Order: sequence, then C-alpha cells, then structure tokens
Amino acid sequence: MRVAITGGAGFIGGNLARELLSRPEVSRVSVVDDLSTGGKANLEGLDVEFHEGTVLDPGLLDEAFTGADAVVHLAALPSVPRSVRDPLGSHHANATGTLQVLEAARRAGGPHVVAASSSSVYGANPVLPKHEGLRTAPLSPYAVSKQATESYLVAYHHCYGLRVLPFRFFNVFGPLQPAGHAYAAVIPAFVDAAVAGRPVVLHGDGSQTRDFTYVGTVCRVLADAVLRGVAHPEPVNLAFGTRTSLRELLGELESLVGAPIAVERTGPRAGDVPHSQADNSRLRSLFPDVEPVPLREGLARTVEWFREGVQG
Ligand SMILES: NC(=O)c1ccc[n+]([C@@H]2O[C@H](COP(=O)([O-])OP(=O)(O)OC[C@H]3O[C@@H](n4cnc5c(N)ncnc54)[C@H](O)[C@@H]3O)[C@@H](O)[C@H]2O)c1
Repeated sequence: MRVAITGGAGFIGGNLARELLSRPEVSRVSVVDDLSTGGKANLEGLDVEFHEGTVLDPGLLDEAFTGADAVVHLAALPSVPRSVRDPLGSHHANATGTLQVLEAARRAGGPHVVAASSSSVYGANPVLPKHEGLRTAPLSPYAVSKQATESYLVAYHHCYGLRVLPFRFFNVFGPLQPAGHAYAAVIPAFVDAAVAGRPVVLHGDGSQTRDFTYVGTVCRVLADAVLRGVAHPEPVNLAFGTRTSLRELLGELESLVGAPIAVERTGPRAGDVPHSQADNSRLRSLFPDVEPVPLREGLARTVEWFREGVQG
C-alpha cells in the first residue's frame, strides 16, 4: 500500500511516517511539506519520498499522490494565536490547501482521504463532553479554517463519492512537538521549561481543561484507518474523554521531573476555549480495539525526549 502524507515533516506527520513505515503492508510513504512549521529532522532515518513545497501547488500534489492508495492530510498552520495575527495566512494554508488536496485526490483517481480537523470547531459551545452532533461555534480564524477542512471532506464525499475520514484531533502531545517558539502548544512549552529548570508561563488561572492525547495513540488510529480503509461521512473525535486542568498537568509534571516548577502567570489568550473533552463513542465504534497511552506514560516519554534533546 502507498500512502501520501501532507504536512509529513511536522510533529504528528513525522510520528505517523515512522508508524506507517513500521507496517509491512506499507510499501511507500510520500510526504508533501513546505517546512513552514515542520522540519526535515523529523523524518531523519526514514525512507520517505520527500516533495518540498506547498499544498497550494497542484503540480506538486499530483507528483506526490501518483499511485497513492491513501492520503493523510495534516498540512496546516496549526495555531490559534498565529491565526489571530494572520487570518489570511491560516485560511490559505488550511482551507484553500484542503481544497487543493481534495482536487488532487480526485485527479489521482480517488484515494482514501483522512484529514485533521480540530476540537477548536466546538469553540463557544459550552456543552461537555463534546459529541460530534453538537453545534459548532468557532472562536478563532484557525477554528474556522478547520471547520472548512472537515466540511470540504464531507462535501467531496457527497458530491464526488470520495472515501473520506475527517478527524477532530484534540490536544495531541509527545516527541517531535516543538517548544521555544511563540506558538508552542502547552505541553511542550511546560516540559521544555521544566526540564531546563525555568519557570513555566501559564495563561489564565490554570483551571482550563483539555483532553490530552498522546501522539503514538493518534498515529496508531491514523495507521489503522489507512490500512483498513475506514471512511465516515461525518467528523469523528479523536480523543479519549479525559479532562485534565493545566494545574493538574503541572502537578504530574512536577512529580515526573522530581522538582518543583515555578509558574509565571499571564493573561488568558484570545481565541482559547476554556474547556475541552471528547465524547468518543463514534471513535470507539469505528476503532473498537484502540487502547490509548495514559497521560502519565505519554508525559514521561515526552520528558525523556526533551531531556535527550537537552543533552545533545
Ligand atoms: N497538535 C495538535 O494538538 C493538533 C490539534 C488539532 C488539530 N491538529 C492538526 O493536526 C495537523 C498536524 O499538526 P501538528 O501538530 O503536527 O503541526 P505541525 O506544524 O508540526 O505540522 C504541520 C505541517 O504542515 C506543514 N505545512 C504547513 N503549511 C503547509 C503548506 N501550505 N503546504 C505544505 N505543508 C505545510 C508544516 O511545515 C508542518 O510540517 C494540523 O492540520 C493541525 O491543524 C493538531
């Protein structure tokens, strides 16, 4: 089986390429990535066919999708605050980029298309846990662009019969996720600071909650989806229904690094949602065998990865 990954040089994409190449059924992995937030180092040592450039380039997509049985579309500018600063940039990469990927999939003869949407589409809707039947209420340009991503997949299924699987990722974390830049996600930012003995920066009072999912679990589900050809005409939450506050996260981290962590408090960020927790009945019905890596174990692997980086 041949699989193309857009955004394959990113955090989730690099982990997914590794997971797919470990499966005997997969004979080729091609990657399209413009290296805007990802890096070739994430694919180091992996036998992938690399196409450097943007998903907005139809010719490049045609090259990368030739002969592909499945496309996993992860390419996007993945940050809420980045989209607040540059809404058009997020729209081009995430919404128009998805449309280009779907058009290229049609030209390539209709491979199975699995794509990453986001829990941020639930936005202002306060109901917990979030089930896919809830009204979506995006609060940021990023969330709007992800709503477009999943809606285009659904529309391409209905209009052109494309086999699609739009996933809503929640907060994914683990090795390869970068810290130390303005748009870093909370776990790498906390782990990086904690391992280096610096204070962590906490936006708001730490009571906000998230359904954290270890990247290895996400990649196992993605690989299983691709290998079994799992399609669904509506979005599917990819998370496991846990609800951890940032204060609880800091507590877990303190016990893992074995030292107290100093906290610098700052104001809440525009576009952030207060609470997030998935209902995963739809995921469970499609992937009954998946067992998530528990938060503590995933955090321990993440701490280990950051420590290796610090040591050189
Ligand atoms: N990490 C999370 O918690 C999370 C949560 C919800 C959704 N997602 C989604 O999952 C996907 C992967 O996210 P990630 O966390 O691995 O982020 P990432 O930034 O590490 O990966 C995105 C990759 O896409 C590439 N890219 C960006 N714009 C591109 C373009 N125009 N053309 C080609 N490549 C482009 C980047 O260089 C990068 O390698 C994204 O679609 C993101 O929106 C992630």
